[in-house]
Parts: sequence; structure tokens; C-alpha cells
Amino acid sequence: MNDNPTPSAGILETIGNQTIIPVLTVSSADEAVSLAEKFLAQDYHLIEITLRTGAALDAIRTVKQQLPDIKVAAGTVLHPEQMVQAHSAGADLQVSPGCSYDLYQVALDDNIAYIPGVGSVSEIMSGAEFGFTVFKYFPAEALGGSAAIKAFASIFPHCHFIPTGGINADNMDSYLKLDNIPAVAGSWVADI
Ligand code: 3PG
Repeated sequence: MNDNPTPSAGILETIGNQTIIPVLTVSSADEAVSLAEKFLAQDYHLIEITLRTGAALDAIRTVKQQLPDIKVAAGTVLHPEQMVQAHSAGADLQVSPGCSYDLYQVALDDNIAYIPGVGSVSEIMSGAEFGFTVFKYFPAEALGGSAAIKAFASIFPHCHFIPTGGINADNMDSYLKLDNIPAVAGSWVADI
């Protein structure tokens, strides 16, 4: 069981006032640096690079070395080994589409800032038992959208959710108007 009462501490501060988190899948470190420069120029201070390509870890490492002002979250973290590798690469934050006991343990043991993914009340309850209070809600639009997250507020008043999956410029405001949603995330932003 969790000995750390606040494993989500600092995550809301890292997100800060940025209400859209770009989810980027890159094929090279150079592409990542170029995208990161573009987002920095638009006053973003946090991007997510998914671990869905062989270039992802190098991309995270290179962006952190070349652009220390931008925070980089490693996304699509599916296995504990990936969490350890992304941590070594310098990721400021890690995000999963779902959650597992092993990922919770590694995050807690290594003091890694981690946003587990949830799609149900039971998964929120499990994460909360480990002390997590900030979750990715995925795939948001397919699961119930902003209405579902609104319903979580009365049951989990201490929890915040980052909806991802099907979010875009047309529907993001329906999420961002809720107090338990500090930011939305998505791949559509890569095209901005
Ligand atoms: C993610 O990795 O968080 C999602 O795949 C992003 O979903 P989207 O492509 O619908 O924004």
C-alpha cells in the first residue's frame, strides 16, 4: 500500500495555467525539437511525447537538453520498463492511457510524477487507494465525455481529470468549464 500520501503532488502546478496539452507522436528527435520550439513560441510550457515510436525516448532526452524551458511528459506509458526509461530520459511527467498495479508501484517507489489513465469509477477508486488524485480520462469522448467527469465531482471532490481522446477545438470548452478539469489533452493540437 502507498506510504506517500500525495503521489500526485506537483502535477497541477506543472500543468499550471496551460489548458491544452499537445499530444505529439514523433518520428525523430529533430521533429520533436522543432515542434517543441513551435509550442514554446506560442507560450506552451508543457508537451506530451508518446512512447509509440522508436524515436520517442531520444526525442524526450533531446528536447530536455536543447529546450530546458519546456516540460515534457512521456505518454502512452504501458509498461514499468518504459516508465524507468522515460524517467532516465528526463521526462518531467508520465501519462498512461490506463493503469496497473506495477505502474503505480514504480511511480511510487521512484517518486515519478505520474498521471494514470482511468475510464471508470472503479479505476478511480483503485488509483485513489494508492493516493493518486490526478487522472487522465481516456478515451474521453467515447466513454461519456464531460457529463461523466461532471458526475465524478461529487464522489471524488479531491480528484482532477485530464480528458483525452476525441477532444478538439469544437468540444474542448465543454470540458474546460468544469472545475475538476484543469486541462484537456490531444493530438489535434499538433496541427495548430
Ligand atoms: C492519447 O495518446 O492521449 C490519445 O491517443 C490522444 O487522443 P486524440 O488523438 O483523440 O487526441
